[in-house]
Amino acid sequence: MINEHPARPEIVVGVDGSESALHATRWAAREAESRNLPLRLVHVCEPPVISHPTTMAGQGTYLGALRDQGRHWVREAVAAAGSVAPTVPVAEVVRVGGAAAVMVEESLGARLTVLGSRGLGGLPDMTAGSVAVAVAEHGHTPVVVVRGRTLEDPPPAGGPVLVGVDGSPASEAAVEFAFDLASFRGTELVALHSWSEVSFDTVWTMLAFESDWHAVADEEHRLLNERMAGWQEKYPDVPVHRVVVRDQPVRALLKAAERTGAQLIVLGTRGLGGDLTGMGMGSTSRALLYQSECPVAVVRPNLKGDNR
Ligand SMILES: Nc1ncnc2c1ncn2[C@@H]1O[C@H](COP(=O)(O)OP(=O)(O)OP(=O)(O)O)[C@@H](O)[C@H]1O
Ligand SMILES: [Mg+2]
Repeated sequence: MINEHPARPEIVVGVDGSESALHATRWAAREAESRNLPLRLVHVCEPPVISHPTTMAGQGTYLGALRDQGRHWVREAVAAAGSVAPTVPVAEVVRVGGAAAVMVEESLGARLTVLGSRGLGGLPDMTAGSVAVAVAEHGHTPVVVVRGRTLEDPPPAGGPVLVGVDGSPASEAAVEFAFDLASFRGTELVALHSWSEVSFDTVWTMLAFESDWHAVADEEHRLLNERMAGWQEKYPDVPVHRVVVRDQPVRALLKAAERTGAQLIVLGTRGLGGDLTGMGMGSTSRALLYQSECPVAVVRPNLKGDNR
């Protein structure tokens, strides 16, 4: 099977035979249709690690069976995509390797990577699988992890796009992604900036004298307005609601998503809390991948200007 990406970047979807991956496929198919992009449905066969001597013939047969199974799951996903977006071109891909590593590789050169929150493995009470979290952390494109209220529920179809804004380079990339998606979907954007007395440097400088929380709140409002101004000019069609709250960011975003019936929460890979290049995903993005009741998009900082 051909693995090179064609000149036109695609929306890549990880397919593993789970219901969650089919929700992800339908979400991606709608997105592909509205952007006039092809879909690339990828299943990665993970051969088991065999520590005892075995015959080559036996291994070949086993791998053949895994590939057959993978092709079947990909065809199932093709049908799911066709049910919502029948005209979108679809590439069917079956590869062998570690699922997370191959999906990260697949994201290179793609436009967007979409996964379900859970797969066929994992423990019953896990709320996000290891492949979903690893690809969100290391993928080369924005990564959408499709989630609903429960594992079986489809993700919400309507509602605004909610973006978390903290002023970091990654959140700037998230804001751009969120405006673009809200514009394509013809929906509203809710930009949320949360602050609390323990999380912002600006607060500490003001605290050196006294805790004037009204002044701090004014300053946080000003920061959010400043962050949004340029984007609102670029996307005048997108109505924007700005929310500034004094709360812990994960709780604030979960509450806002529920209150507004958000269809997607958009976050940067990491916020102000650490080195951009050396560290993986920040704790807010990680927590929401596990707790959100709607899809979550994780967007990496646009350091090289390559978030297309
Ligand atoms: N082998 C695979 N090939 C392609 N995509 C995959 C594969 N495995 C998982 N995915 C993608 O990742 C999503 C989440 O699955 P993941 O494997 O992370 O969760 P899990 O199976 O519940 O738990 P874990 O694998 O960590 O035990 C799936 O819905 C699918 O989109
Ligand atoms: Mg799995």
